[in-house]
Parts: sequence; structure tokens; C-alpha cells
Amino acid sequence: GLRKKEVNVLCLGLDNSGKTTIINQLKPANTQTQEIVPTIGFNIEKFKNSSLSFTVFDMSGQSRYRNLWEHYYKASHAIIFVIDSGDKLRMVVAKEELEILLNHEDIRCKRVPVLFFANKMDLDSAMSSVKVSQMLSLENIKDKPWHICASNAIKGEGLQEGLEWLQGNLS
Ligand code: GTP
Ligand code: MG
Repeated sequence: GLRKKEVNVLCLGLDNSGKTTIINQLKPANTQTQEIVPTIGFNIEKFKNSSLSFTVFDMSGQSRYRNLWEHYYKASHAIIFVIDSGDKLRMVVAKEELEILLNHEDIRCKRVPVLFFANKMDLDSAMSSVKVSQMLSLENIKDKPWHICASNAIKGEGLQEGLEWLQGNLS
């Protein structure tokens, strides 16, 4: 039969932003885990949908592991960058890490779609996706398709919309 197109997705963002929770929600129900713990290093998750076969690199966001991210830039076809919308204090850190990513030689010249999740929209302290977008200066990204979705990874809200955008922007 026809083989599904293989897509490598790199999931990045600061620790505690909700990356593993998001990826867990995107997996088929029977393979989801109940307990999510801070990621050590990274985990690889594979799942399929109607037309694509995804390999997701769920990276740890802890500062001591962020140097691992760049090793996966070359192989990635898409990036999911997760932000904790309630974490105002570390928004500048998220912005710095995003800038380092976008300026990296393996990403700079590549037209990879970047999907942002302004996660934890359920928190009272959460900033809107528009505000998050402004704080990260996303309007400056001119050479890659990008999109931002507000999400609640615990309930799974906003995730499907994001994934559909990503699929439509894979070359
Ligand atoms: P690292 O693996 O350390 O980089 O963290 P991570 O980005 O994978 O975060 P993780 O998925 O482990 O989630 C961190 C915490 O945030 C957990 O306690 C989650 O339950 C919680 N969390 C994730 N998404 C949401 C959300 O949308 N809303 C709320 N309120 N909490 C969330
Ligand atoms: Mg994690």
C-alpha cells in the first residue's frame, strides 16, 4: 500500500510550558499516559494520522538540557514551540531561546513551519495569544510560515487547530 509521509517534528520551549502534555494529548487515546513528569534529555514519540506518520522529538526545556535541541534542527520538518502563557517572568527567557533557535545556521535558511502554542490559557494569569505573540515579536519572523494558537493541553483544547495548520504548511 501507500506509505504515509514521514514528518519529524521538534517540540521546544521552556521547562514546565506543557510540551509533554501536548504531545501526550496528540497521541492515540490508548497510548496516552496518565502521569507526566519533567522530561530528562528528550523522548521520541511516534504516531500516525490519516495521511502522515509523525516522529516527535519531545525535548526537555530545562536549561541544562537546552544544548541538546540543536542536534535535531537539521532533521526537523516542523517545529512546535510551546509557551506557558501564565509565566510572565520567563517570557524574556522564552524570547531569547526562540531567537537563538531562529538564528541557528541549521534553521535560519530553512523554511520550516513553526507552530506556537500559547499554552495554559485556562490560568487566570494567562496572557492572550496576541499578547504572547507581541512579547515574542513574532511579527519579525518573515522567512518561515508561523502560527500561534491558544491552548489548554490538559483539556486538549486548541491542539487540533494547531496540528491542522501545521499539516497544511508542510512542504
Ligand atoms: P519539561 O519536560 O520540563 O521541559 O516540561 P514540559 O514543557 O514538557 O511540561 P509538562 O508537559 O511536563 O507540563 C508541566 C506542568 O504544566 C504539568 O504539571 C502539567 O500538568 C501542566 N500543564 C500543561 N499544560 C497545561 C495547561 O494547558 N494548563 C494548565 N493549567 N497546566 C498545564
Ligand atoms: Mg516534557
